[in-house]
Amino acid sequence: MKNIAVIGVGYVGLVTGTCFADLGNRVTCVDVDEERIANLKRGIMPIYEPGLEEIVRRNVAAGRLSFTTSYAEALNNPEAPAELVFIAVNTPAGVDGEAELRYVRAAAEMIAQTMDHPLIIVNKSTVPVGTGDWVADIVKNKQPRPIPFSVVSNPEFLREGSAISDFMNPDRVVLGSLDEEAAQKVAQLYLPLRGPIMITDLRTAEMIKYASNAFLATKISFINEIANICEALGADVKEVAAGMGYDKRIGRAFLDAGLGYGGSCFPKDVKALAHMANVQGKHPQLLEAVMQINADARRSIVAKVRALVGNNSTHLNRLEGKTIGVLGLAFKANTDDIRESQPIDIIRMIQADGGMVKAYDPVAMPNAAKVLQNVKLCADAYEVAEGSDALILATEWNEFKNLDLVRIKRIMKQPVIVDGRNLYDPPVMRELGFIYRGVGRGY
Ligand code: NAD
Ligand code: UGA
Repeated sequence: MKNIAVIGVGYVGLVTGTCFADLGNRVTCVDVDEERIANLKRGIMPIYEPGLEEIVRRNVAAGRLSFTTSYAEALNNPEAPAELVFIAVNTPAGVDGEAELRYVRAAAEMIAQTMDHPLIIVNKSTVPVGTGDWVADIVKNKQPRPIPFSVVSNPEFLREGSAISDFMNPDRVVLGSLDEEAAQKVAQLYLPLRGPIMITDLRTAEMIKYASNAFLATKISFINEIANICEALGADVKEVAAGMGYDKRIGRAFLDAGLGYGGSCFPKDVKALAHMANVQGKHPQLLEAVMQINADARRSIVAKVRALVGNNSTHLNRLEGKTIGVLGLAFKANTDDIRESQPIDIIRMIQADGGMVKAYDPVAMPNAAKVLQNVKLCADAYEVAEGSDALILATEWNEFKNLDLVRIKRIMKQPVIVDGRNLYDPPVMRELGFIYRGVGRGY
């Protein structure tokens, strides 16, 4: 059992703190967002993450998990002084694509000013290579008196929507530090998970995170490029991905063609890696292509809608007078996260083209309502379909997999479906009488 503090109760911090508590440690989570902390104290989750609420409640009840806005309470509880503190604050994209480090800086400064005993500072946020050394400098400079500490990089690889199971069943745990003893102490926390633990230096650990995300993003852009070619040549990208995936060297994962990648991670991390390369005078050509193909994937969905239901008159905007229904607002299924969401971008493009938008998402509507204007948010997929000229399937929620398509066709103004997730079977859709377009399904 170790005493742990976690800074930031977002997708990563809350899951990390909760899972460490579930593994028998005593965890105090601290956040600057008072409302989040007040809600957590009342058992209200700040994010939608399947299974999280139950584990939080269980560990709070067992006295292993607590929430506070006070760094002192999290770090210096006399009965349980923290031995390790995890930084899990957000690192959004800055104006030039660089990772914005102001929250990491604030957390490091607060740790330095608050700590009253030696600490291992573990950085879980995704941060540019070299940030670990920078954090060490900040802590050293901001401490009112010198107290020993070590910095360990421990990038996180969980996905939203399956965060708990990803955390509890890691493909690997990466630890980076010059201080072998500190790294070993962090490693002990992960031993119960039985995944491979790799210990390396700080900068390499930080780079492993960016390289991993960039590689996965590259797989997605690669299959989207193949999808594009499939459409022109009459091949089916779903079958192509399946056929490629049997090769163990390739693997089937992350070869789903569609709207391209969205979310709070891949877009900002690929950009940040490219920025790091540019600053060093390198030319990240592959990363640039990955980003361009990704942007095209969203545009090409709107282009399909235009081609199928758009006006030809030069007096009208292409989608003026048309109602487009959008099924799904989250950047992928099983999350309420709409950061860099492809459906939100697509909606804005339709609006810019003069189209009216109706939309529905099982959990992301409250978040979407904060950023969208003039979109009619509906109670379900059928309300979206009613009177629509075209439907875009934008997020692959389970509840969209078994829709009553006969009913949908009956209530739509025009039976047009653009399936951005290749959820449906093209021959079946055609049999049902739809004008159907998937992504890369050229036959
Ligand atoms: P988030 O926005 O969901 O949560 C960040 C939290 O940190 C917020 O609650 C915010 O109030 C809090 N915070 C900000 N500054 C603070 C401070 N100075 N002191 C205390 N709390 C502070 O972010 P997230 O999605 O959990 O991502 C966190 C980091 O982990 C990012 O670097 C991200 O790239 C990385 N990451 C995210 C995921 C993911 O799936 N979301 C997966 C792996 C890695
Ligand atoms: C991703 C990584 O998968 C995690 O390992 C990593 O920890 C995290 O980023 C991070 O660094 O923050 P996440 O963004 O939650 O996790 O979601 P993914 O499941 O990776 O999907 C990302 C985007 O790619 C989604 O928009 C998804 O729809 C899209 N995608 C994914 C595809 O278009 N095709 C695929 O084959 C897979």
